[in-house]
Amino acid sequence: MSAGAALVVEATPRLIGHLAVPGDKSISHRAVLIGAICDGETRITGFGRSADTEATIAAVRALGIEVYEHGADTLRVFGKGLRGLTVPGRPIDCANAGTLVRLIAGLLAGQDGNTFELTGDESLSRRPMERIAEPLRRMGATVETTDGHLPLRIEGGALHGIDYALPVASAQVKSAVLLAGLYADGESTVVEPAPTRDHTERMLAAAGAPITTRPTSVTVRRAERLSLGETEVPGDFSSAAPFVVAATLVPGSELHVHGVNLNPRRTGLLDILERMGANVTVYNRRPIGDEPGGDLEIHSAPLVATTVTTAEVPRAIDELPLFALAAACARGTSVLRGAKELRAKESDRIDATVDALRAIGVRAQGRDDGFAVTGVPARPRGGRIASRGDHRLAMLAAVAGLASRDGVRIEGADVVDVSFPGFFEMLEELRRTSAVEQPDRY
Ligand code: S3P
Repeated sequence: MSAGAALVVEATPRLIGHLAVPGDKSISHRAVLIGAICDGETRITGFGRSADTEATIAAVRALGIEVYEHGADTLRVFGKGLRGLTVPGRPIDCANAGTLVRLIAGLLAGQDGNTFELTGDESLSRRPMERIAEPLRRMGATVETTDGHLPLRIEGGALHGIDYALPVASAQVKSAVLLAGLYADGESTVVEPAPTRDHTERMLAAAGAPITTRPTSVTVRRAERLSLGETEVPGDFSSAAPFVVAATLVPGSELHVHGVNLNPRRTGLLDILERMGANVTVYNRRPIGDEPGGDLEIHSAPLVATTVTTAEVPRAIDELPLFALAAACARGTSVLRGAKELRAKESDRIDATVDALRAIGVRAQGRDDGFAVTGVPARPRGGRIASRGDHRLAMLAAVAGLASRDGVRIEGADVVDVSFPGFFEMLEELRRTSAVEQPDRY
């Protein structure tokens, strides 16, 4: 697909089948970054390949780390220890990846006496960076942003631990402080306003870092050496979510998604959908790598409206556009509050989501910190949705197309490559097999 390519997703009569989605993006970034500061080899299986995670591989290579790629989803990262990163001759390009820039900044802050520059694409360059610069400065690094944005200049320092109460619930900011804390004298403690994804904590613990987790805070102490050995990446819940919502909305559907990360700090959408009356069952619960995982069975179901508030937002942050679409097909008015952070994502996801729903004939209204959607338990009309360079919006548009009456034309569909290359191919394959499959049972 060429840059900015448009694609039409037609309505589908039902979705029936089994699928598995690529490895979790958040965990894939962390495996490469933490692997780079481990002593010796880290073998990563189930690595989620995407434009974002390729940027992370390129970034650690620029820092002198060897990464060997075996087949589609196995990597071997040859870490050089906590202080083995070398200074590249040019800025590190973080492309579209917010997780990469925020997490790597924490590592670079600890490289005492070395200076690094981080850049990114147009969208990443619009996103706020003071949120990581501020705590890293407090720890003793010199960090310069460009009016609060990229490019970012980081001079590693002799760091000391801090107690940091996160001003926003952000796993990326938490992770930046924790990674810097590996290099800091004393203890570094991050207090969260609400629990956010804890993949960094889990992986650091698996690598032998001195880390203590509590329900709303986490403390790390200076590490001497880390070793991860082998790590398996579970399927990405955020990539499974479009299929979960599609199968919920398209009548007569029965879909299984296998090997998905079911970390409770990621699966807020399942709780929201359950309240709305969705029929999603988790089975084969099992650990996958350092995370709880399992399989999902989704049957279509009629939905009713619900309200999502602040405490629930971090656990469903990347799925809130999909919640809006579910709300569009639910009886009554659904409301989202306390989600101002959506305005600081790859696009302004409040405006983008509301505009997307309106474009297919749904009644939706934006608010400063969320939206209200008045649903109708029927297929939305369909129409044209622009991705605005945001992969999650392109996926929302695709699900809207499947569940619509007349299909959806997606402008800028190719942006799905940021997190899920092959998304449209998987969707088309599912549509094709759904036409011939019979559901196991209703
Ligand atoms: C992520 C954290 C979240 C999420 C993003 C991935 C991570 O961002 O939206 O897609 O991997 O830590 P914030 O930390 O900005 O909430």
